[in-house]
Amino acid sequence: MIYTLALNPAIDRTFWVEKLDFEETTRVQKECRYPGGKGIDVSRVLTNLGAPNTALGFIGGFVGDELECRLTSEGVRSDFIHISGETRTNIIVHEEETGRHVLLTASGPEIAPYEIGALFRKIDGLKDISILAIGGSLPPGVHPETYRRIIAGVRARGAITLLDADGDALRVGIQGGPDYIKPNRRELSQLVGRELNELADVVEAAEWVRSQGVGAVLVSMGADGIVLVKDDGIYLAIPPKVEVVNTVGVGDSAVAGFLYGLATGLDLKECLTHATAAGTATTLKPGTARANRKDILDMVPRVRFEDISRSGDQWKGLK
Ligand SMILES: Nc1ncnc2c1ncn2[C@@H]1O[C@H](COP(=O)(O)OP(=O)(O)OP(=O)(O)O)[C@@H](O)[C@H]1O
Ligand SMILES: [Mg+2]
Repeated sequence: MIYTLALNPAIDRTFWVEKLDFEETTRVQKECRYPGGKGIDVSRVLTNLGAPNTALGFIGGFVGDELECRLTSEGVRSDFIHISGETRTNIIVHEEETGRHVLLTASGPEIAPYEIGALFRKIDGLKDISILAIGGSLPPGVHPETYRRIIAGVRARGAITLLDADGDALRVGIQGGPDYIKPNRRELSQLVGRELNELADVVEAAEWVRSQGVGAVLVSMGADGIVLVKDDGIYLAIPPKVEVVNTVGVGDSAVAGFLYGLATGLDLKECLTHATAAGTATTLKPGTARANRKDILDMVPRVRFEDISRSGDQWKGLK
């Protein structure tokens, strides 16, 4: 069974207004509420793909109940730790007149040490874990060491681990030796402390991360696709040019596409093309909707795969 872990999930509350007015009342024309957070997003897309999975993490209060029930309504299985704090709500306001949006993300409830202990016990008790995907920010009270410990523990039991995080959570998390990490170019650049302008820079940075004990590195690069740096080679998957309507959650969709490939026994080339296809298919979906199975599978043959293991001098020209 694939498990996803979101320590700081959210309800994303989206409002559409004609124009934001700071003097008078602004009338909301439409609003919607959706389950949010990286791990949650990965679970939603995996479920769309028909891959059995269970979302883990912390939820609490009325908002936590809402999150759990919304996931259940979408057919997403979950097994959360119930905490004493209240799950956060993020606010997104779309201004129709300008096409701009404002995003307010809350930091999330403080997690008590005994609640972290309950999470460790929950994960230790998962008999059927084959893959664990960890994603997202850490709520107050949770040290990045938590990621390191979970990854090291799950790996020791023979399951595959994937980490999609940034900042300290990524830096400390990789010390647990995850099988895969999926930074975007900015996150990788931050991790290695230098700019990554050319594909050669990205590959070199990924190789350095591998030397720190990470199995393989998937670097997502927006419209430039995803490069996979692994022990036996370097592979690039490039999506087709598309009319992008949304870029929220595309990285999570890419993670889900990759895990779907791993879970269904596809070879690594296919895992990478499915990851890229899933990310790109979600760019075509407005709002908080995510790509469905047909969108993703239709996109797969449009993704170009290249084995670039021996073409180092041709890696110039990233957008
Ligand atoms: N402009 C685009 N055109 C085509 N595909 C795209 C575009 N932007 C993103 N994608 C697809 O989505 C994948 C992930 O995108 P990106 O690198 O932006 O992830 P990310 O920065 O981790 O996103 P997130 O904000 O969800 O964390 C890309 O590898 C690609 O397949
Ligand atoms: Mg991302």
